Parts: sequence; C-alpha cells; structure tokens
Amino acid sequence: MSGTKATLTINDKSIDLPVSSGSLGPDVIDVKDVLAQGYFTYDPGFMATAACESKITFIDGDKGILLHRGYPIDQLATGSDYLETCYLLLNGELPSPQQKKDFVDLVTQHTMVHEQLTFFYRGFRRDAHPMAIMCGVVGALSAFYHDNLDINNPEHRRIAAIRLIAKIPTIAAMSYKYSVGQPFAYPDNKLGYAENFLKMMFAVPAADYEVNPVLAKAMDRIFILHADHEQNASTSTVRLTGSTGANPYACIAAGIAALWGPAHGGANEAVLKMLDEIGSVENLDKFLAKAKDKNDSFKLMGFGHRVYKNFDPRAKVMKQTCDEVLAALGINDPQLELAMKLEEAARNDPYFVERKLYPNVDFYSGIILKAIGIPTSMFTVIFAVARTVGWISHWLEMHDAPYKIGRPRQLYTGYTQRDFVPEDKR
Ligand code: CMC
Repeated sequence: MSGTKATLTINDKSIDLPVSSGSLGPDVIDVKDVLAQGYFTYDPGFMATAACESKITFIDGDKGILLHRGYPIDQLATGSDYLETCYLLLNGELPSPQQKKDFVDLVTQHTMVHEQLTFFYRGFRRDAHPMAIMCGVVGALSAFYHDNLDINNPEHRRIAAIRLIAKIPTIAAMSYKYSVGQPFAYPDNKLGYAENFLKMMFAVPAADYEVNPVLAKAMDRIFILHADHEQNASTSTVRLTGSTGANPYACIAAGIAALWGPAHGGANEAVLKMLDEIGSVENLDKFLAKAKDKNDSFKLMGFGHRVYKNFDPRAKVMKQTCDEVLAALGINDPQLELAMKLEEAARNDPYFVERKLYPNVDFYSGIILKAIGIPTSMFTVIFAVARTVGWISHWLEMHDAPYKIGRPRQLYTGYTQRDFVPEDKR
C-alpha cells in the first residue's frame, strides 16, 4: 500500500501524511510533517503511537497472537529452549545445531561476574528489595567492563549483549543470596541456563543440590515466555535511554527500573501479595466488588493487559506449565487453591468479561514461582532475567540503523509567561 496518503484537515488547511505498511499489523500514518505546519500530535500512554520500526516481535492483541521473528510463542515455549530463543531474538533466525552449540558455549563462558562486583553487594542493606539491588548492580556493570563500552563498535555491542545475557542470572541469584545471608554460589557451567540459575539460587556449600528436572523445565519456559514483548514500557525505556548514546549496561538498568512497577513486571509479585490480602475463599466476593468499584484503587493483579484484549497467549502455555508443576510437586497450598478460585470467579463475572480482562502471564507465573520455592520478592527479578535478551535485542536493532534521540513533545497547560516576583513582594 505504499503511496497511500492520509489527509489531515485543520480548519481550512490540509496536510497530506504518508501511510506505511509493515509486514503485519495496522498501517501507520507518518505524522512527522505536522510539525512543519505548527502542530504536535497528542497520544498520552502511546496508545496509538508507533515509535520505531522493528523486525523482532509481533503482537496482535485482539487475536491473542505473539510471534518472535515470525514464530508463535506457544511453538517456541514447547519446542525450543531459552538460549535458542535468545539466539533467535538476537539474530533473526533459528540456529543450526553448530550455531546453537557455539552460542551456548559463548554464553556459558561469560556466566561469572568480576570478583570485585561481589563487594558491591555489601553496600546494600540485607533487607533491600532484590529489584533495588538489580538496578544498582546491573548499572554498575559499566564500571567493570570498560572494554566494550564503545556503542559505535558492533563487536563491543555484541559482546555486551552476551555478557548481559550470561551474567544476569548470576547477578539475580546473588541478590537473593545476599538478602538471606547465604554465601554467593558460583555458576556451574556443566548445567543448562535454567538449571544453573536454580542451583545458584538454592545450593548451599554445606549440602549437595540436585536440580529437579521438572522445575528446571518450568523455569526455562518462564524465561522463554518473558523473553520479549515488543515495545512495552521497559523495552521502550531501554530504547529511549539507548537513543541518547548511553552504554548498554546503563540502558538495561533503566529497563529494570521500568519493569519494577506493579502495572508491568511487578505484577507477578503483586499477585501473591493480593492473594495474601484476600486471605481465603470466603473473602473473594468482597475483593471482586472492590476491584469493580471505581472509587477503590484495588485492582485484580494479574488480570488485564494493555495490548491483549482477547487472551494472553503466554498465559495459555503458562497455565499448562502451572498445572504440570503443581501436579509434579503434589502441591496442596491453600493460596494456590485461592488463586484458582479467583480465576474462575473473575472469568465468570460480567465486569471482567465485558472489559476483556483475562488472566495475564503474570497471574500464572507468580503461582509457578511460588510452587518452585522462589520467594515473592524475586518474582520480578526473574522477569528481568528473562527480558534482558528482549531489551538487548531491541537495543542492538536500534543501533544497527540510523536513529534519533527520543524526545517527545507536550501539550503545555501551565502558566503563560509572567514576571518574577521578588521574595519581599510575595
Ligand atoms: N482489575 C480491575 N479492573 C481493571 C483491571 C484490573 N486488573 N485492569 C483494567 N481494569 C478496568 C479499568 O478500570 C477500566 O475500566 P473502565 O473501562 O470501567 O474505566 C478497563 O478495565 C480498561 O482498563 P485500562 O486501565 O484502560 O487498561 P490499560 O490497557 O490502560 O491497562 C493494565 C492495562 C495491565 C495496566 C491493567 O489491566 C492493570 O493494571 N492490570 C493489573 C496489573 C497487571 O496484571 N499487569 C501485568 C500486565 S502483563 C505483564 C507485562 O506485560 O508487563
């Protein structure tokens, strides 16, 4: 449809705006020319704004479709593994067996962190939230890996990407170990990515630790399902930060900060806190009423999504994994039962049905993580571990083409110009 134009008429003035088509998804109206005519466009929350061109991930929220480099998420979650998905996101194609082996070997070589970094942790209070530690420590990586900070050098960009993907589970597990007062566990390069993470989380020097393969598979699937999600708030933050020329570690630290909020990655932790607050099945009706009350700030955490207005395709696979994990572990936890009852009640409630508020990926991931034994405060950290590849893939894509500094405009509604009043006249 190239050559199509949209015409914007303001009073008696018309502006022709070019319309571009992608390979999938709605056409986009290129609004750059409105600036020359003395206008800005206004779209709070970027509900209808395409801020960049990308080939990495496609979402059709109405149809519940999520594709990474063209491959449906459910096929990747059931047929691939996390590091293969990372290769796909970074490089655009699935690896050959040799490419996969080389990539896994490369990531594995970089799992350790600089020993000096371990001292950095001691600056945090023991009771610090692990996400607070993550923001600080990941940002600090730029102080440890000076040899790859030239963002104009493609080789530096590549090695920073590999380092981030390789080290983030180590840094995440260290954040947990620090908070519980246990010694840090070094990575074990004989193990796969998810297994290694579980071992670094739960092994102690005083005892042997065997990774349960059911839990390792579930962990790997959680990583795949959170690996990327198009131009979400944290990825857009990484792109915006990257557009200033900031180094990759600073950009990923910015992404981690954006992810922390309860409307985004913090939702998986918020789900469990909400279940705590609800307490028991008898209170369900009361809390459903609160969630529907416009004068009450309470929301059902783990329900609803900015883009998915049908169902979250990640949630479908996550629910299946959730059932498998709970069955394999023979778990009989009243809080998990409460979660299942809440899901059932919300799915049959006209308020949630009419507004297309379905359980999202974080509703089930929180439940699985709890069953695996991961403490609630680590839930969003795990999301950050998984999403690092998505962030860095978008950062690389941005740097592989010319880009401009991200600089939104505003609708100013403050005072017009007025004269300064000296202190004695106020
Ligand atoms: N509980 C109760 N009501 C809700 C909820 C909820 N979780 N989510 C949306 N609504 C209502 C909202 O009040 C509004 O009602 P009305 O039309 O009567 O004013 C309607 O549904 C539309 O909601 P919205 O706020 O316009 O939707 P949004 O696209 O701006 O927000 C959201 C999406 C994810 C921020 C929101 O649904 C939410 O806060 N959910 C809970 C937090 C959550 O689970 N977040 C994780 C998202 S998945 C992980 C990720 O990708 O980051």
